[in-house]
Amino acid sequence: MLPHLCTVFSLVVASAVAQSSQIDRVAAYKKHAGMAAKIRGAMIGSIRTSWEQGTAAEAVLQQDNPEYSVFGDNPFQTGGNTPVTTLQFALSASVRQSGDGRLSQLVGDGADGAALDGASAGPHVVLGTYTDSNRKSYWQSSADAQLNYLLNTAPRTSTGAISHRSTAKEYWADGMFMGFPFLAIYGAVADNQTIVQNAYDQCRLYRDALLIDGPTGKLWAHIFSDDTQQFSDQGLWGTGNGWAALGMQHVQAAILKSQFASSMTAQTDDLSAWIKEILDGTFAALTSDNLVPDYVSGGANFGDASASAALAAVAFRGASLDPSVFTSNYTDTAVNVANAVLSNVDNLGIVSPLVDPINWGDVGSLSTEGQAFSLMMLAAWRDWVGA
Ligand SMILES: *[C@@H]1O[C@H](CO)[C@@H](O)[C@H](O)[C@H]1NC(C)=O
Ligand SMILES: *[C@@H]1O[C@H](CO)[C@@H](O)[C@H](O)[C@H]1NC(C)=O
Repeated sequence: MLPHLCTVFSLVVASAVAQSSQIDRVAAYKKHAGMAAKIRGAMIGSIRTSWEQGTAAEAVLQQDNPEYSVFGDNPFQTGGNTPVTTLQFALSASVRQSGDGRLSQLVGDGADGAALDGASAGPHVVLGTYTDSNRKSYWQSSADAQLNYLLNTAPRTSTGAISHRSTAKEYWADGMFMGFPFLAIYGAVADNQTIVQNAYDQCRLYRDALLIDGPTGKLWAHIFSDDTQQFSDQGLWGTGNGWAALGMQHVQAAILKSQFASSMTAQTDDLSAWIKEILDGTFAALTSDNLVPDYVSGGANFGDASASAALAAVAFRGASLDPSVFTSNYTDTAVNVANAVLSNVDNLGIVSPLVDPINWGDVGSLSTEGQAFSLMMLAAWRDWVGA
């Protein structure tokens, strides 16, 4: 009898401990949840480039309509609330689509030189095809033109990777988030495995080109030119690693939520391992203030809230998608990083210090992507604690 009672007793204690740590987790998140509105206001108020339009749309989607983000249970089916703000972002991207199919281009002097950046709003245009029956064919033509640009117009590197630039053959870590989630999501919604597989292949080709040894393990260099066969920026840019991890995680989640999940487990396992590789290398390099450095090596090393927020978001989402890989080791660090990022939000909702999105070695005054990453981090944190 006695051992049995002891077992019961220890189970009761264990479950009470689990419950109180769950309460602590929710409280730690809730302490910061109220900041989201101001952080979002600064993002929406900012003048945006093509890549920022899609990144901001994704942040809004995860905040307002998590059921339609790739981290929702059934994101490619109708049944949620109409994702109004996300579609408002997507509509502007489509209205400013260039003749060659790139979204968010007809701004100021016109097209922006990037082959992949415009496609960052592609997932949200695809979302319009099944959540806004008023404009179904408009959304579909816009998404098809963007797809056609990526598959048939954009330059390709010698390995078959879609170049990040429109008139040169270059791999940028940034492109991972801009182009390949769109391919995966388009393919999932169209039930076209060739396109979904292409999204995975692009991630693999970019990793092959950019992954190098760093002081804390393998990480992604920022830019490699296929034209000159040299790195244009060999530094391990924190935000570049954030873009790469976020991009791969969106592709992974899109595959897992598609009808191809069971036939593509080798691909989703690879993506999970490649995401882990980035978290291992960047989390091992945290500054004394618990931020990811602007550059882990090969550049400025101030603590950067932008990269930090992106990578903390990845750790929280990883814990939900792949709990056996992304254990408490990752979420404990993500909570520390999130606290550091959110400890410095000012009266206008500006997150700091963060890297200037154009001058990668400088601290900037406003970063739309940094604001968006902070919102993605808050949404991922919220979903992880189940708040
Ligand atoms: C899948 O997409 C590719 C690229 O657009 C296209 O060539 C192919 O016909 C599509 N396959 C199916 C089954 O629709
Ligand atoms: C915990 O994470 C760090 C990186 O943040 C990694 O270096 C270490 O191997 C991990 N430990 C375990 C037990 O997974």
